[in-house]
Amino acid sequence: MDIMTIEHLTKVYGEGDTAVRALDDVSFSVQAGEFIAIIGSSGSGKSTLLHLMGGVDRPTSGTVRLQGQDIYERTDEQLAVFRRREVGLVYQFYNLIPVLDVVENMTLPVLMDGRSVNDKRLNMLLRTLKLTGREHYLPNQLSGGQQQRVAIGRALMNAPAVVLADEPTGNLDSKNSAEIMRLLRDSNRQLKQTLIVITHDEDIALMADRVIAIEDGRLVRDERIRQVPAATHGGTAAAFPSKGAR
Ligand SMILES: Nc1ncnc2c1ncn2[C@@H]1O[C@H](COP(=O)(O)OP(=O)(O)OP(=O)(O)O)[C@@H](O)[C@H]1O
Ligand SMILES: [Mg+2]
Repeated sequence: MDIMTIEHLTKVYGEGDTAVRALDDVSFSVQAGEFIAIIGSSGSGKSTLLHLMGGVDRPTSGTVRLQGQDIYERTDEQLAVFRRREVGLVYQFYNLIPVLDVVENMTLPVLMDGRSVNDKRLNMLLRTLKLTGREHYLPNQLSGGQQQRVAIGRALMNAPAVVLADEPTGNLDSKNSAEIMRLLRDSNRQLKQTLIVITHDEDIALMADRVIAIEDGRLVRDERIRQVPAATHGGTAAAFPSKGAR
């Protein structure tokens, strides 16, 4: 089953002589529960694509459908709700709120939605992301890697149907990077979460079910590495995370 369909997606920044065609007529579908790696050189349009899939920006033309519905038919307010509820986005440059501490940053989207925080899940994420003991630190009191892990925690807090992660291990050493990828992959497999990760790391790309390459704003390669596992009964936070082997 396709959860997301992207058709003729184009994004042009600026106008006239200075216009940049960051994304140029990109089309593909995403299966529910699929783990996709997006690769491509710097400036090729990867972040632009991820942001458009997450409802962060509006396309110049083309559509992004989630479960059949064009997300850009929504008003800005409806899009804000979409971003909080339907997707978890890990930004390349974290986008943490400087005056909020670790726990407040992680739980903000849930609280803004008027829902209560699942403490068990929060504590599990703090533990897995090695943020225990740093709960009340502000972003500027954290290392780059710690800030990156807070951004990942914020995206996973909601257990969203779709996780969009922009270089989620870009600031981490190889050991931490492997642990974070295991967390994301366990979450993908156990919660049947669709996972889309931008990466420069070949090892991470090889963990994915499918690799999509973007160059100069165009989709130049779309390669299946393995079948998406059949639906598991999953869906409960209790079953997660496991010490899954790669
Ligand atoms: N807000 C913006 N205004 C103008 N141009 C932009 C904007 N955002 C991105 N661009 C341009 O669009 C192109 C694609 O940028 P994008 O950030 O999507 O690349 P990327 O593949 O994520 O690169 P990197 O690997 O370095 O993160 C670049 O040429 C960039 O300069
Ligand atoms: Mg980028």
